[in-house]
Amino acid sequence: MRVVIAGGHGKIALLLERLLAGRGDQAVGMIRNPAHVADVEKAGAEAVVCDLEAASAGAVAALLSGADAVVFAAGAGPGSGVPRKDSVDRGASVLMADAAERAGVRRFVQISTMGAGQPPRPGADDVWAAYITAKTAAEDDLRSRDLDWTILRPGHLTDDPATGRIRLAPPPVPAGSISRADVAAVIAALLDEPGTRHQTLELIGGDSPVVASVRSIR
Ligand SMILES: NC(=O)c1ccc[n+]([C@@H]2O[C@H](COP(=O)([O-])OP(=O)(O)OC[C@H]3O[C@@H](n4cnc5c(N)ncnc54)[C@H](OP(=O)(O)O)[C@@H]3O)[C@@H](O)[C@H]2O)c1
Repeated sequence: MRVVIAGGHGKIALLLERLLAGRGDQAVGMIRNPAHVADVEKAGAEAVVCDLEAASAGAVAALLSGADAVVFAAGAGPGSGVPRKDSVDRGASVLMADAAERAGVRRFVQISTMGAGQPPRPGADDVWAAYITAKTAAEDDLRSRDLDWTILRPGHLTDDPATGRIRLAPPPVPAGSISRADVAAVIAALLDEPGTRHQTLELIGGDSPVVASVRSIR
């Protein structure tokens, strides 16, 4: 399987690239900073330089040629302000979905966040509110498309090692944490299970093995 990962130098993306390469899949990491090429290649993936806040849908579609799936793993990140929540967390996801449609790549796994799908909580700061608004808009855009999408909403992310044990279900799942390594494993499993298309799933640490949890979603 050839899997193109938007935000290919992100923490989850690099873990996912290692998992995919390790099982014989072809991972492609889309990055905006050429200095990140070596890290992506070290993870076993092909690196493609493409700034998702500047590229056209046609240019991205050309980069998706021959892909079997797209994973949206980009994000403006913790140090960013309101404008980049919109241009990356919403805009880059919309761009990737548009490009996937043009390129005929049907499978699309989007990393969203728990909290999306509802208005920002009262009293939330502007940046957090912009983040939740952007993630919700990105989800809504993806649901409107003729793609085999799965929306994954992890809880608070940690850098702990993988546990292989999760709680994955349609909302609502109670607030909780999950390691990025477990999120990467869930995405790899979702890519193997097209039956999870058209599902919005929330994810925290739990007791159920990853593959069994993903297979139980239909
Ligand atoms: N933090 C949490 O607790 C939490 C919880 C739930 C969900 N999430 C979501 O989970 C996702 C992945 O998390 P993570 O920790 O793996 O993220 P991360 O390490 O911050 O990675 C995000 C990646 O997106 C890239 N990016 C930003 N702008 C770009 C652009 N214009 N073009 C191409 N790439 C661009 C960044 O590249 P640069 O290095 O060049 O900036 C970075 O490599 C994010 O969408 C995040 O919102 C986070």
